[in-house]
Amino acid sequence: MKRILSGLRPTGRVHIGNYFGALSNWVKLQKEYECFYEIADWHVLTTDYKNTQDLREYIIEAVCDWISAGIDPEKSCIFVQSQVKEHAELALLFGMIVSVARLERNPTLKEQIKELELEENISYGHLGYPVLQASDILVYKADLVPVGEDQLPHIEITREIARRFNYLYGETFPIPEPVLTPTPKVPGIDGKAKMSKSLNNAIFVDDEPEKIKEKIMSAYTDPLKIKLGDLGHPDGCVVFAYHNLVNKKEVPDIREGCESGKLGCVECKKNCINKMVDFLAPFREKKIELKEDIDGIINIIKNGNKRAGEVARNTLEDVREKMKLWKG
Ligand code: TRP
Repeated sequence: MKRILSGLRPTGRVHIGNYFGALSNWVKLQKEYECFYEIADWHVLTTDYKNTQDLREYIIEAVCDWISAGIDPEKSCIFVQSQVKEHAELALLFGMIVSVARLERNPTLKEQIKELELEENISYGHLGYPVLQASDILVYKADLVPVGEDQLPHIEITREIARRFNYLYGETFPIPEPVLTPTPKVPGIDGKAKMSKSLNNAIFVDDEPEKIKEKIMSAYTDPLKIKLGDLGHPDGCVVFAYHNLVNKKEVPDIREGCESGKLGCVECKKNCINKMVDFLAPFREKKIELKEDIDGIINIIKNGNKRAGEVARNTLEDVREKMKLWKG
């Protein structure tokens, strides 16, 4: 059976962008593959090293969200990166065979430097983000990595590191392939191309129906469609994008109604709210149930760490041997 590894940084509650962009795919893949799903807590520290007091809560929150979204801990291994120390050892070794220039060329890093105005203040750990990610993937000798498009540069660096290691020390790692999520990016309620917690434009999978209503009612729609009868342009409209996620069946009718002016925005939003509330109801219910038994969640994490640790230890033994490192 082919093996899968993917991860998300625990930065708070999961929103529908995370769900459609990653989790929904993870859920499907569990049926066909041996899956390892990682809470990438060390990766959070590359940017948020100052405020670490909420990390524990965020990790528990993430695991609850993942399970309520359909990740089955009996089938898939859910684990916490920082609890499998082999990731750090492998990242250190990979650090020797990748150049600084290669890491500086990483477009994700360039974007973050601009966004967070880091310039000269970029840390050693942050520069090494993709090296740590490569170790996440390769420590499990994963064949496939389901990710969103934004992660492709990191997977490319992972593949380069794997090839270079194999060339230098002998065949050790499979060259992992990315598996792109079929869903395009989910826009935020404000019309920004990407839904994100930090942009404050997210619908969370466990939002109360009232919250969902409030958010969708305020969502950005076609600015040229002001009153009923105006001809609409569904392709730039956030609400139309959400219909596409949770109300696929009616999408052709909604497009027709919007473009011809017969369907007004308020009616369209109300319909979208109902569908979104119905779609998300089971998540919220399941999450409430899970949160009543935090010890159960902690146990799931412990078991996952143990299983992941066994695989990771085997890989590191192999790696040390291939590199002729000290033994004894
Ligand atoms: N960098 C990924 C993100 O921000 C999270 C991540 C960490 C990851 N390790 C990984 C994704 C390994 C895939 C494989 O979304």
